[in-house]
Amino acid sequence: MSQPDNYLHEVRSQYEALPYPPCNPEDDRKRMVLTWLEDLPMINHYCFAGQQSFQNNFRALVAGGGTGDATIFLAEQLKSTNAEVVHLDMSLASIDLARRRAEIRGLHNIRWVHASLLDLPTLGLGKFDYINCSGVLHHLADPDLGFRALLSVLADSGAMGLMVYATTGRTGVYQMQSLMRRVNASLAAGSPAPGRASDEVRKIANTRDLLASLPAGNWFKRSEDLHQDHHMGDAGVYDLLLHSQDRSYSVGELFDWLGDGPAGHRLHLEFSDVQRGRAPYLPRMVLGNKPPAMAQALEALPRRQQYEMAEMMIGSIITHSLYVTRSAASTAPYGDAQYVPFFFHEPLTGEMAAQVFSSNRGQPFLLNHQHSGMAFKVNPGRYGPHILRLIDGEKSFAEIFDQFRADWKGKAAAPDNAVLFADCYEALNALDRLLLRHPAAASAAKT
Ligand SMILES: C[S@@+](CC[C@H](N)C(=O)[O-])C[C@H]1O[C@@H](n2cnc3c(N)ncnc32)[C@H](O)[C@@H]1O
Repeated sequence: MSQPDNYLHEVRSQYEALPYPPCNPEDDRKRMVLTWLEDLPMINHYCFAGQQSFQNNFRALVAGGGTGDATIFLAEQLKSTNAEVVHLDMSLASIDLARRRAEIRGLHNIRWVHASLLDLPTLGLGKFDYINCSGVLHHLADPDLGFRALLSVLADSGAMGLMVYATTGRTGVYQMQSLMRRVNASLAAGSPAPGRASDEVRKIANTRDLLASLPAGNWFKRSEDLHQDHHMGDAGVYDLLLHSQDRSYSVGELFDWLGDGPAGHRLHLEFSDVQRGRAPYLPRMVLGNKPPAMAQALEALPRRQQYEMAEMMIGSIITHSLYVTRSAASTAPYGDAQYVPFFFHEPLTGEMAAQVFSSNRGQPFLLNHQHSGMAFKVNPGRYGPHILRLIDGEKSFAEIFDQFRADWKGKAAAPDNAVLFADCYEALNALDRLLLRHPAAASAAKT
């Protein structure tokens, strides 16, 4: 292992004392932690146009992997392939916990690297097909330096899964961080003489003390239901409310930085919020319960503008989870009949989906989607429920449409593929409940 020498000392000290996310490796005997972006069918759909087999020496890097959630999930899914997962972190305490989890699971496809991700250009680790960097870049003094280090080891056809903090949803968090900086600085005199650990203990105790007494009008209290970390022990309290280096991004800032801003990286961005997919970034879904008079005009705006507005409308996006690729063609194309559609993230069958979408006799209806908390109007179209009924995760659209036409009893000619493609997909795909796979992609990418 190389030694990290390029990091913020306060940040490293925090993650040595308080590895994140807090975990007990023994829990891996009982359950598996799934991370939203690392499901192989999601990676395949958004990063490899549904064509990735994960069989050809696939290489994944988890940069700032912490206690190992993404690493373990990837390694579990890839364990019957020749893929390699590299877990890199500057906190040895975090690596030790992640490594113990892997031992408990009998995983042998992970390489452990104790280093700063800023040193990636010179570590000689080779190129990666997929890089996860979740909850890390926003803790760097220079996030773009970190991002460029990641890009330097990304294969030409590779993709990244990123998570960074979101500004609007964390408004109360930043007020609380600011408050705690003042309180902790003001009450420092007279507290016990300070090893770093005791200083962290003191700050955490002050935070808990204050949290228990804040009035309901406090901005963190108003939005407390959006946040979980402060219920996850000391490491969670520190990470959320006491971090020494923490910034956030609006969706527009991300498009500028990673996409087409003046100094942007010219990459393609696909957002997928945990449980909600891109639905919270779409005004028509955010306002779908009771669309305003301007709904159609909003829908006609460019994607970026819609996303920027939706972030402010919904207010509850606390992190931005997104895939970045070098080409928009990395997302599996809807409209190509070779592709196999399949339901994902919920135990949904074609029959169940067909019933939901025919609930209002073919007319638009309000979909109250409980898993995501999104409620919006859906137009099932003329043929939507019939097509959904035939989706079984095995048949391609071509086969589904042929079967539909074979059963056609109408007097007019049966609809062609273009007509059949027009219905239903957008709503279910926006929630990441309906994904695509190219038939050439082998078993590791399957549901
Ligand atoms: C908030 S934790 C996130 C852990 C994990 N990615 C997750 O999402 O659960 C941030 C992690 O990034 C690591 N980290 C921060 N800066 C780093 C750097 N420059 N190089 C490597 N790791 C870093 C920390 O040690 C910590 O484990």
